[in-house]
Order: sequence, then structure tokens, then C-alpha cells
Amino acid sequence: MEKAEGYKVKVIGIIGAMEEEVAMLKEKMTEVTVTEKAGMEFFHGQLKGHEAVVVRSGIGKVNAGICTQILADDFHVDAVINTGIAGSLKAEINIGDIVLSTDTMHHDMDAREFGYPAGQIPRMDTLAFPADEGLRKLAGEVCRQVNPEIGVWEGRVVSGDQFVADKAKKEAIISITGGSCTEMEGAAIGQAAYLNHIPYLVIRAISDKADDSAQMDYPTFEKQAILHSVRLVESMMGLLD
Ligand code: ADE
Repeated sequence: MEKAEGYKVKVIGIIGAMEEEVAMLKEKMTEVTVTEKAGMEFFHGQLKGHEAVVVRSGIGKVNAGICTQILADDFHVDAVINTGIAGSLKAEINIGDIVLSTDTMHHDMDAREFGYPAGQIPRMDTLAFPADEGLRKLAGEVCRQVNPEIGVWEGRVVSGDQFVADKAKKEAIISITGGSCTEMEGAAIGQAAYLNHIPYLVIRAISDKADDSAQMDYPTFEKQAILHSVRLVESMMGLLD
């Protein structure tokens, strides 16, 4: 594969919420040093010839935010990628497809009582956290090469401390956020990255449709979705300057 143009990053942090989402990446690392903090193991070493810190954050927004802050403070990462799976919020985004974040937003933050739009954190200056365009472009190009059989989409990734498996809940989230997929960590990573001025990208492969079929589809398609996301992240590593 051609070297992608101009994405320079020295140390990249890679976060997956679940062990299954990072296990394959950890196996491929060399020169690894493991550091434990806040109940998380940070694998610092080389991944496809690039300096990386790979970590399982644990599930949910608090774990993901803490994890991102540690990557910033202790490992001085220059960029963060979040790899994982999500429920689709758009009819055209199918199970197995990949969504690359244009931005991230909390779908369960609600201070409308004080005049803020649903999703906005009071006294913060933004409703959503913009993701890095350069990382997204690179991911899109690489995805079309390594996962040619699936759709790759760009859109808003929305997060809440909820597994969404209910049509009414899904519709409510769509009307609040206009999101493309829903999961449980991306906006916390986006928020922490925003506050620390670190470029980031959320890469999510679709495991279910976040409706009444989600409970059945999730276990069936989880592994396949993880594979798509991991394959993409791994291939991106070799292309970073
Ligand atoms: N991760 C994968 N599918 C999800 C869903 N439906 N809701 C929240 N997180 C998810």
C-alpha cells in the first residue's frame, strides 16, 4: 500500500472498551512495556513500526474519559484512536459497515431545564466534539482498501451509558443528535481529547441496529464487526509518518 500523505503523529493512543477489541492489536505489538493505572493496563511499544499505546479502557464514558486523560498525561500521545463496535442509527448503515466520526456527542446529557440543547454539557462551549479530519481521511482510504466488501461512512458518533436495544429509545436518540451510530465511550474520549487539544478519531464497526433486534444481532455479529475495526486500525499504523 502507498504511504498515505502527510499524517504525522509520533505516539498514538489506541483505546478499545473491551478486551476483545484490543486483544489482536496487543498480540501484534513488539518492544512492549506494560504500565498499570486506574485498573487499566497500558501496552506501550511498536505496532506495525509505529510507536503506540494500546489499552482496554473498560466500558462506559467514565472509564473512557479517565483512560484518555492518562494517555495524555502519562504517555503524551499526539493522537487518539478509539476502535470498537456500535449500533447503527441509520437505515443505510448496515451490520458490518464502518462509521468514522466527524464528531462525537453525548446523547444522555440533558440540561434543557437551563436552556441548553439536549446533549450539551452546561458551560462548555460546544455541543459536539469535532474529530480530526486528517485521521478520518486516512482511515477512509485505508478502509476501502482493507475492507472492500463493507460500507464505510462518515458521521456523528453518539454516546451514552446505555446499551440501546429499543426502537423508541433509538428514535429519541436520533432526534436529539442526528447521529450515525450509538455506543458507550466515543463522546467521552472526544471530550477528553477536546479539552487536551489532542486530535482523535472514533472508528466503529456496526454490530447491530440499536433496536429490538439488537439483543439477538449483537452476539452474532460482534466478532465480525471487531475484526473489521481492528483490521483497519492495524493497517493505518503502517501509514503514519
Ligand atoms: N455497542 C454496540 N451496539 C451498541 C448498542 N446498540 N448500544 C450501545 N452500545 C453499543
